[in-house]
Amino acid sequence: MILSPLLCLVLAFLAPLINAQAIVYDAIHNATSLVGTWSSGSRAVSTGPGFANPANQTFNYPTNTGISYSFTGDGFYEIARYRFNGNGSNPTCIIGVIGWVHGTYDLLANGSIVMTPFGDGYQQVQNPCAAVSNFIENYNLTELYQSWRIFQDPVDGFKLHLFQFDGAPLAPQFQLSSTPVMLPTQPLRNVTPPNSGTTQLNKRSNGEGHRWTTSIWMVAGVVVIALGSLAV
Ligand SMILES: *[C@@H]1O[C@H](CO)[C@@H](O)[C@H](O)[C@H]1NC(C)=O
Ligand SMILES: *[C@@H]1O[C@H](CO)[C@@H](O)[C@H](O)[C@H]1NC(C)=O
Ligand SMILES: *[C@@H]1O[C@H](CO)[C@@H](O)[C@H](O)[C@H]1NC(C)=O
Ligand SMILES: *[C@@H]1O[C@H](CO)[C@@H](O)[C@H](O)[C@H]1NC(C)=O
Ligand SMILES: *[C@@H]1O[C@H](CO)[C@@H](O)[C@H](O)[C@H]1NC(C)=O
Repeated sequence: MILSPLLCLVLAFLAPLINAQAIVYDAIHNATSLVGTWSSGSRAVSTGPGFANPANQTFNYPTNTGISYSFTGDGFYEIARYRFNGNGSNPTCIIGVIGWVHGTYDLLANGSIVMTPFGDGYQQVQNPCAAVSNFIENYNLTELYQSWRIFQDPVDGFKLHLFQFDGAPLAPQFQLSSTPVMLPTQPLRNVTPPNSGTTQLNKRSNGEGHRWTTSIWMVAGVVVIALGSLAV
């Protein structure tokens, strides 16, 4: 009996870990209905064939901007993104980014999602005001989504809300299909072993590229710290 305080301490320490296994699948955390293909706004962007050609690192440009996420029931994801970022100081300097990435995802017990890429993701950045106005780079960032929700809209049906690592919401996505429309769930091009994170194939020669790379590393750092706390 002299051990019992120690035992209690150990149990108290383990309790959160044991409880952590109990993820509740309900209307807002419903793994069944997460499976499928989702697309924002006008639904012009969709994962799967027709968006990215990883073998030659090209894209078929959609008619409109947007994001699309797909999830399989056995742990694979794919993301297609096409967006424009404005430039406050020069309205004509609009940066276009089109990107594709896929890999495996984990639904964490606390409601977060971690998406770990295969390493064959890439994106094309077009910035008319930069020294190098158009380049393609590898994209291999592990992404943490704080939480997700699925609501049922009377008109549009299931609607997926994803909240980024910092809690910022992504545009809501409608269910394009309840069976995921995806490229094959395996690495689709050879990538030279990296120094991890985003590897630039073509560096821009001005400072912008450095700032951009720095912010990617900051995001990567946050993700790494977040993942590190998993181990605690
Ligand atoms: C989860 O979603 C599926 C598909 O939409 C639905 O059939 C099921 O009832 C939902 N489960 C819960 C617990 O809400
Ligand atoms: C890239 O691959 C796609 C799909 O195979 C093909 O349709 C397209 O013409 C290729 N583009 C270039 C520039 O090679
Ligand atoms: C925004 O426009 C300014 C002025 O043309 C330019 O110097 C700057 O590099 C642009 N910013 C980005 C992020 O492209
Ligand atoms: C991509 O990222 C994953 C997860 O961090 C890592 O295991 C893999 O080695 C990376 N691959 C490449 C080609 O960057
Ligand atoms: C869930 O756990 C992960 C890993 O520990 C953490 O990064 C994330 O912030 C947690 N999510 C919430 C909503 O607390």
